[in-house]
Amino acid sequence: MVSGDTELNLGRIRRYQHELPEWEHISKAWNLLENYSGIPPDEIEPHLRKVRDQAFAVFNYPCLGRWRFLDLYITTHPAYPELLARTKAGAVLLDAACCVGQALRQLAFDGAPQENLRGFDLRRDFIELGYDLFRDRDTFRVPFATGDALDPADKGLSGLDGTVDIIHAAAFFHLFGWDEQVRLGERLVRFFKEGIENAVVLGRQVGTPEPGGERGRYLHNEGSMQRLWDEIGERTGTRWKVRAELSEEKDTLEGGGEVVRSLIRYEVRKA
Ligand SMILES: C[S@@+](CC[C@H](N)C(=O)[O-])C[C@H]1O[C@@H](n2cnc3c(N)ncnc32)[C@H](O)[C@@H]1O
Repeated sequence: MVSGDTELNLGRIRRYQHELPEWEHISKAWNLLENYSGIPPDEIEPHLRKVRDQAFAVFNYPCLGRWRFLDLYITTHPAYPELLARTKAGAVLLDAACCVGQALRQLAFDGAPQENLRGFDLRRDFIELGYDLFRDRDTFRVPFATGDALDPADKGLSGLDGTVDIIHAAAFFHLFGWDEQVRLGERLVRFFKEGIENAVVLGRQVGTPEPGGERGRYLHNEGSMQRLWDEIGERTGTRWKVRAELSEEKDTLEGGGEVVRSLIRYEVRKA
């Protein structure tokens, strides 16, 4: 049997890693800090540690504690070239639950016009820490909104209603159970421009080959994600087609041991 203390310790190890991950997981972010933010290479690691710890103190998401926010997976999403092409042609992309806004900086660095990018998050502190992380408070012109996407009475996000063509939503839906995910989907649909035909929601999150609830959160494979979007579609008078694929990632824990995580990369297109 595992003692209470050991369990607590294990929980902490699963959420927080002192050492930076292997280079392949952070090379894009490092490049961004060096060549977009202009931070000298020998200052990057202490800078990253400082901002990461400040962000983890705001809320202890494993994606912050375990440095996953530095994995700019979005650049490898099959739709990434489309995101760049469409935003360059005027489409508006919203990063939903953008946290420190790393995906938005990457998109801008790769040529997406800042005036066509938007972000929102529940916590303003993360958005502020994003300016500290990327040292671009005076130059990054992307508008950020703050609000609770699950609270219909929260007006913080209403300025985005009916203004968006593309929504990036990474590590977001998996925070919630089925019913909240349906409400979240309904909220995202309201952000799209009226009558838009090529609306797309895309991202990556924790997945599973066997969909179901786990500690209050519902995890998906492609089939369950399609059922979710069928329900969101029924409630919003829209129709959606999901394409998703699962992959496995090994995570080595400090102090020994490994966890294997299923990830699901997805795109949901208006049908
Ligand atoms: C696990 S982080 C993922 C952040 C980012 N998308 C990424 O891929 O690194 C989850 C984010 O969702 C935001 N969030 C959680 N609940 C929210 C809500 N109800 N409305 C808006 N944002 C929320 C958190 O503040 C946090 O920044």
